[in-house]
Amino acid sequence: MSPRTVDVLGAPEDVATGQASPVSLVVTGLRVQFGGFTAVSDASFDAHPGEVRFLIGPNGAGKTTCIDAVTGLVKGTGSAKLGDDELLGRPVHRTARLGVGRTFQTASVFEEMSVLQNLDIAAGMHRRPVALVRPRRGADPRVEAAAEQIGLAGALGQRAGTLSHGQKQWLEIGMLLVQDARVLLLDEPVAGMSHDERTATGQLLQRIAEHRAVVVVEHDMDFVRRFASRVTVLHQGAVISEGSIAQVQADPRVQEVYLGTSAGRGHEGSGSGSTTDDDEGARA
Ligand SMILES: Nc1ncnc2c1ncn2[C@@H]1O[C@H](COP(=O)(O)OP(=O)(O)OP(=O)(O)O)[C@@H](O)[C@H]1O
Ligand SMILES: [Mg+2]
Repeated sequence: MSPRTVDVLGAPEDVATGQASPVSLVVTGLRVQFGGFTAVSDASFDAHPGEVRFLIGPNGAGKTTCIDAVTGLVKGTGSAKLGDDELLGRPVHRTARLGVGRTFQTASVFEEMSVLQNLDIAAGMHRRPVALVRPRRGADPRVEAAAEQIGLAGALGQRAGTLSHGQKQWLEIGMLLVQDARVLLLDEPVAGMSHDERTATGQLLQRIAEHRAVVVVEHDMDFVRRFASRVTVLHQGAVISEGSIAQVQADPRVQEVYLGTSAGRGHEGSGSGSTTDDDEGARA
């Protein structure tokens, strides 16, 4: 019998070799066009195990499009490398198979199924075919360990549709953990969460980031200040600043975008230092 305890946050394994293999994501000169419209013109950012990388910018800056391109949902040019593997040009399922996982701005769990079934489906996508036909005894230890980490161990039998918005985001993150994703791209994971839920999410992301590349798209500047290792600022499809939160907040280009233009006017931006936790209007 294998041990029942699994460190679901331990170093991820390479699918092909089974060896522990934390890897970095390096995006260079990413460009995405929709017909004649250039949504992302020149985006470069990276994420390394050991840090939580934030991608911020005003509405329409191209943040979600960057994630869509890296995960293969839309076509992008330039480069997005996971270790030695080029991700651009691969179909979505091949990219996922390499260990690239993402969450959506609107949580996409299977609402009619239980928390356990959701996690089990995600685990099934990761299992090798032979493991799928082999009879299983009890719950998958990876599923149990993931449920523990996302705070849903006591809700495994609950229908996912009845979870709070925050819990659904956690379930999505749990689904990526059971799949042993090596890169997690999270699109506004704390929107709509309470202060305590945001804190729990930030701490979870920091634990996940110990061995995985984590990219978080977020508008909540208080959350960014509390949990970002490094920040990349996108504006109109291009990177305008990068560095620690203190560095980007002090950057005149960032202040201009958030405070000096119509896009930022009326909102509390990254330069103001006054954004509150409950302020959904902090859509910087
Ligand atoms: N499928 C599409 N077809 C055409 N234009 C699109 C498409 N998807 C996004 N866009 C446009 O690309 C630009 C970038 O959109 P994107 O959703 O990436 O922005 P974002 O930074 O994620 O914004 P938000 O903070 O509001 O989520 C926007 O102008 C958007 O209208
Ligand atoms: Mg978006």
